Amino acid sequence: MSTGLRERAAAELTRTRQRSVGLTDAVDDDDLVRQHSRLMSPLVWDLAHVGNQEELWLVRDVGGREPVRADIDQLYDAFKHPRGERPQLPLLGPAEARAYVRTVREKVLDLLDTVELEGRPLVEQGFAFGMIIQHEQQHDETMLATHQLRTGDPVLVAVPPPPSQAIVAGEALIPGGPFEMGTSLEAWALDNERPAHQVDVPPFFLDRAPVTNAMYQAFIDAGGYDDPRWWSPRGWAHRREAGLTGPGHWHGDGTYTRFGRREPIVGDEPVVHVSWHEASAYAAWAGRRLPTEAEWEKAARFDPATGRSRRYPWGDEDPAPEHANLGQRHLSPAPVGAYPAGASPAGVHQLIGDVWEWTSSPLYGYPGFRAFPYREYSEVFFGDDYRVLRGGSFGTDAAAVRGTFRNWDYPIRRQIFSGFRCARDPRPGELAA
Ligand SMILES: [Fe+2]
Repeated sequence: MSTGLRERAAAELTRTRQRSVGLTDAVDDDDLVRQHSRLMSPLVWDLAHVGNQEELWLVRDVGGREPVRADIDQLYDAFKHPRGERPQLPLLGPAEARAYVRTVREKVLDLLDTVELEGRPLVEQGFAFGMIIQHEQQHDETMLATHQLRTGDPVLVAVPPPPSQAIVAGEALIPGGPFEMGTSLEAWALDNERPAHQVDVPPFFLDRAPVTNAMYQAFIDAGGYDDPRWWSPRGWAHRREAGLTGPGHWHGDGTYTRFGRREPIVGDEPVVHVSWHEASAYAAWAGRRLPTEAEWEKAARFDPATGRSRRYPWGDEDPAPEHANLGQRHLSPAPVGAYPAGASPAGVHQLIGDVWEWTSSPLYGYPGFRAFPYREYSEVFFGDDYRVLRGGSFGTDAAAVRGTFRNWDYPIRRQIFSGFRCARDPRPGELAA
């Protein structure tokens, strides 16, 4: 690993830790150990879990060093303890957890200077470090979602998102034909993004922007939550059981609560905290459908001028603040039209950042998939239980999302920063004209 790569890994580890510290220092010890929702872990669990994964992979495996705390491994194994039971575990307290993650990090920064990083796929191009940085950032987003579920006075602050700078409406035609999906080259891409492979995607239309609060309000006003026609049988059963009447955190009076602040709903911001079932019902009501995962990725990466797939809608450069609403820079999605510099060649906006976008696709491995570095990273989730989300949210760090990145969750979930956009097939004769 070159000096540049070591420096980059160290800088990203440090930047990421600042975010974790900010999210956990924002609340008092009672709030850190409390479970704010059955769906979430106590924040203090996330913090020590991040440190434990870093210890397992970087201190012990890559570094070959002695364990720091082998006695706590099973407490922080996400597969041994579902989120609901984590508060009952004899977890490290706030001070202990903070000391633990600091100790692990000191060892990692120490070994990063000198560790032999050749001859093993786990360390090539700094993969293990990239994996751990992304893992911590993913838990930071989870902790941000926990903050949204927490009750009490607001504790997080951020500047508002930029205003709309362009009128973005209607849909874009994505031309038919093969494109390269996934990646074999992106150094820190995870196993489920690999390998690159050709997928033939017929022509389709995709919304140029995510569905907004105002558009979603029209679905509610039209009685969309009372009409089983728009819902799948499972979606309708869930809507009734859960008593859903609108997106999560909406109060039904034109306001929603965001991170402890009750505010008027902003009409031209992408709707967030909707489940896959709700997104699908909206799409059916609108005479449209959710895009498949392949369609979403083609819209985000395919460059018709060159025929190649790019890393991001705007090109191959890493995300900058003018491209996308990422990294908890703001505490909400940005209005449609706020990121003209981030648009794709076909004129599709805000594919990266703002809200995770539900697709119609279940999660499966790509042709040639190989679990790496362990089956529990993604292979154990393959199957029809989950639906894929793409593009990241305002709470996703740039290190943890790219054009190929795949997220997944149950179709009933909406505590995540989830929204969507719609697609449709061309009408007969529409493309011949
Ligand atoms: Fe984890």
